[in-house]
Amino acid sequence: MSTASMIAAAERDAQAGLRFEPLTKHIGCEVLGINLGRPVSPQDAAAIYRAWLDHAVLLFRDQDLTQEDLIRVTGIFGEFAPLGRPKHTLPSGFSKILPNIMLISNIRENGETIGALPDGEMMFHHDTIHRDEPHKATLLYSVEIPTYGGDTLFASGTAAYDMLDATMKKKLAGLRAVNFYVYNSVKRNDKQAVDASSQAVHPVVRTHEETGCKALYVNRLMSVRIEGMAAAESDALLNFLFDHSERPEFVYTHIWRKGDLIVWDNRCSSHARTDFPSDQRRLLLRTTVKGTCRPY
Ligand code: SIN
Repeated sequence: MSTASMIAAAERDAQAGLRFEPLTKHIGCEVLGINLGRPVSPQDAAAIYRAWLDHAVLLFRDQDLTQEDLIRVTGIFGEFAPLGRPKHTLPSGFSKILPNIMLISNIRENGETIGALPDGEMMFHHDTIHRDEPHKATLLYSVEIPTYGGDTLFASGTAAYDMLDATMKKKLAGLRAVNFYVYNSVKRNDKQAVDASSQAVHPVVRTHEETGCKALYVNRLMSVRIEGMAAAESDALLNFLFDHSERPEFVYTHIWRKGDLIVWDNRCSSHARTDFPSDQRRLLLRTTVKGTCRPY
């Protein structure tokens, strides 16, 4: 869609007023009737925030956003998290990248990647679960996307927890998992030990500090063992939890279009990415929101 028709679609939609349409039974909601390129009223911001708590993932289609707009919209969800942004070259069409924006991209200039998380598939993970106070939210805005692949999958940790039987819920109560900083899809058992600043121990079941709901808080990419449990038992339990939380009924698969903005709640959802052609450009702008407490 061209920029002009995206604006026209957003304007048309905005006149119809703010609306929320769930994307699946357990996770995700599309927000319609809002042009985020314009200031958002406090009433609309409050309704958007409420829907986000209810659905964990919000999708806004056909948005034509400047970096300043993205920064402003991020403010609806909380305070910026400082970025450990890799050094990058500007992609074509950009004269600057604002300090709180990170590029997620496979684009290479002079053989160097211009952004982070460049290539291929990524297993399910919660952003920054390897830190003591993981990020609360992540926003991702699509600028260039491949013709196929590079979809982002979002899994509801809340639904996955709710569907466990009472015996398993009892077994998980009080357990804690060790989470490593690893962003490549190596097998869990092959992960090397990492230094103390790149790992954190968190409850296997996290209580959301705003909704009070419990969610599974382990993931295939970064959770390496259950604290104080023998390796074989820990592996078996984690593998069960990974398979369970990735069941299709708990997952929304997002097929990107240019101009999509997605906001996800890292406290109660995990996400993954499918593979995509390495010879096609993929560029998204990302911002992150600070966590407000240690997971409990
Ligand atoms: C991420 O895991 O934060 C990146 C997701 C994506 O590139 O789709």
